[in-house]
Amino acid sequence: MDIKEPKAVIGANSWGSAAYGKLLRGSSVDDETLKKSIDTAKEKDLLIFDLAQDYGLGKAQKMIGEFGTEDIYISAKFTPMKKYVPGQVRRSLERDLSEFRRGYVDIYWLHLPVDIEENLAEIGVLYREGKIRNIGISNFTLPECKRAKAVLDNAGIPLYGVQNHYSLINREWEKQGVVGWCRENGISFWAWAVLEEGMLTDPRVKTKGSLMKLVFSGKKKKLRPLYAAMNRVGKRHDITIPQVAEAFVANKGIVPICGCRKPYQVEQLYEAVNVKLTAREMKFLETVADKVNVSILGADMFRFAVRK
Ligand SMILES: NC(=O)c1ccc[n+]([C@@H]2O[C@H](COP(=O)([O-])OP(=O)(O)OC[C@H]3O[C@@H](n4cnc5c(N)ncnc54)[C@H](OP(=O)(O)O)[C@@H]3O)[C@@H](O)[C@H]2O)c1
Repeated sequence: MDIKEPKAVIGANSWGSAAYGKLLRGSSVDDETLKKSIDTAKEKDLLIFDLAQDYGLGKAQKMIGEFGTEDIYISAKFTPMKKYVPGQVRRSLERDLSEFRRGYVDIYWLHLPVDIEENLAEIGVLYREGKIRNIGISNFTLPECKRAKAVLDNAGIPLYGVQNHYSLINREWEKQGVVGWCRENGISFWAWAVLEEGMLTDPRVKTKGSLMKLVFSGKKKKLRPLYAAMNRVGKRHDITIPQVAEAFVANKGIVPICGCRKPYQVEQLYEAVNVKLTAREMKFLETVADKVNVSILGADMFRFAVRK
């Protein structure tokens, strides 16, 4: 696998804490199932796991560290919640590395556009020390992306990627030019919540209730025409509705990060990102998605956490 061009990434937000998994997704998954999911990902050459300190109520990173991280790539983040204090990134990364039980992370994202210059300067030093192999930014607008790239350019360090919210029903960052800018500059664009936390899955498949399902229950009704369109496209390629959501993103040249906790989900993700959708199918999906016009928290859902 080429880390510069991953086909897909496994999201570990709901790994680790059983209580968190139940609250967020309606069910928890045992360690054996998660280990099997990792093994399946390795078989399929989907070797990047996306993490952050708060995932699984702080347990996801520790768990993956216990499982062993020798033959996988780790994508981790620094979440700047307070005004910049020198040394804050180093301290946070040290905690990450002790949880992962290794000396470096493969990709390290500045999770929010806060104190961009200061935080990236410190991340740059850790990059030079070899503790960070690639640098990315997450939840950044286009002007903020350009600011971040200028900081790294000045330090002679490449910007690896941008990780923002993107799905069939939320293509805001494409409309605002971030996706195109990444493409023009050879920067990877990773999409989080490609399945909209379970909203872009098959409504006929019944799953246990959860906080997220409660949040989007009303929207599923509005999404019916889109599910029908996704089903129609999926049937042509012998894939499911959630796989169409994954394939749509992959066919945009965007890297989908999917919250996979079960081996079948990893297998389906692998299958989906290898499906070639036609230009007509892509346009059809976009047109129906725009027509249903379901409002979700949106592209800028973390703006409230961006300290001025
Ligand atoms: N940078 C950021 O600010 C940021 C923010 C949020 C998330 N992220 C990253 O993005 C990742 C993905 O987001 P997410 O985990 O919140 O949500 P998601 O991937 O949009 O959705 C996960 C949901 O989809 C279901 N699912 C997965 N594969 C499926 C399949 N093949 N068939 C049917 N259902 C399927 C899961 O089912 P089960 O309930 O059965 O597992 C779960 O309910 C996170 O794990 C995290 O790594 C980054």
